[in-house]
Amino acid sequence: MKILVTGGTGYIGSHTVVELQQKGYEVIIVDNLSNSNIDVLPNIEKITGVKPLFEKFDLYDNVKTSDFFKRHNDIKAIIHFAAYKAVGESVEKPLMYYHNNLFSLINILYGMKDNNIKNIVFSSSCTVYGQPEQLPVKEDAPVLKALSPYGNTKQISEEILTDTCKTTDLNAILLRYFNPIGAHESALIGELPLGIPNNLVPFITQTAIGIREQLRVFGDDYNTPDGTAIRDYIHVVDLAKAHVIAVERLLENKNKLKNEIFNLGTGKGNSVLEVIKSFEKVSGVKLNYKIVERRPGDIEQVWADTEFANKELGWKAEKNIDEMNLSAWKWEKAIHNKATT
Ligand code: NAD
Ligand code: WQD
Repeated sequence: MKILVTGGTGYIGSHTVVELQQKGYEVIIVDNLSNSNIDVLPNIEKITGVKPLFEKFDLYDNVKTSDFFKRHNDIKAIIHFAAYKAVGESVEKPLMYYHNNLFSLINILYGMKDNNIKNIVFSSSCTVYGQPEQLPVKEDAPVLKALSPYGNTKQISEEILTDTCKTTDLNAILLRYFNPIGAHESALIGELPLGIPNNLVPFITQTAIGIREQLRVFGDDYNTPDGTAIRDYIHVVDLAKAHVIAVERLLENKNKLKNEIFNLGTGKGNSVLEVIKSFEKVSGVKLNYKIVERRPGDIEQVWADTEFANKELGWKAEKNIDEMNLSAWKWEKAIHNKATT
């Protein structure tokens, strides 16, 4: 059973490829390596014993994408991760984001139609909820106006998929991730942020290892118990496992709607200070941090209602914040050792 994983050398994609291969699926990755490294492939092989098939090209190129599908007419399902994901950069370069994230999806959907591929799992984001009125947030909460071009590409992509499901054979599962963190227990794959990290946990681990001098905590005057913002952090391996379940749901025709949406989180929120305390506990490193102004565009608090995913997918996130931080720390140490030896 051959599955196409776009963006499969990236952070979430590489963990998903591992889980798919460990369950016996044949995987072909397409990635242009714009935000990942080819070394991921031998590391996936070290973990699973299998080197996935790989092709490097831009999915926004319709000629190359169409040619790819003609050459691989045995693909049964697609997990589509490939996209640009940096919120701040999307504000600076909106066209680059709309072009990459939307053209790639549209080219893939044409490829699926022309080659009779019916199943797609799509990477969406909790960013579509903005600051929800009710917490935990359920899948039927209103989608609020996007705060960034990146967020808007996720909203438009969801609409493209929903509309296409209405009039074609397409079956889609849209997975709205909360905040993925952590790395594989082998410390062979993990997140590789280019330049200065925007996200909290890579910034924490880089500060702890000495690459960054000080972590800035963006705001302690939120209406939360300790004043810092709350998110639903989820271990990337838990997230990856949900993708295998979602794709199997489609392959086995167990989906109840042609277009289903699931939240993927733990259902539990942690504040920035709680994440820092957990990191200090599991790493034994005292973190240099200071409280600064709120970051523009940040919401106060969000965490997922995971009941629908728990019941319908039979999936539940298993790892807690300490396990997430410990794996992120092991990964940071592994990449640092590699860079300095
Ligand atoms: P990532 O950048 O590590 O992985 C994306 C991969 O796609 C990269 O390897 C990149 O080289 C590749 N890529 C990008 N554009 C491409 C193109 N046109 N053609 C071929 N390859 C291309 O990101 P990630 O964190 O693994 O995120 C995966 C998906 O999940 C993205 O769609 C992202 O928007 C979504 N998502 C991520 C988060 C998060 O916090 N990491 C949260 C919610 C949703
Ligand atoms: C988490 C918390 C920050 C860095 C982003 C995207 C979202 C989704 C996930 C893709 C916030 C605080 C952070 C730092 C800090 N991605 N923080 N100091 O903003 O919840 O979500 O990634 O879809 O769309 O917006 O994640 O990790 O950046 O921040 O205090 O140096 O940590 O203010 O409260 P965020 P994050």
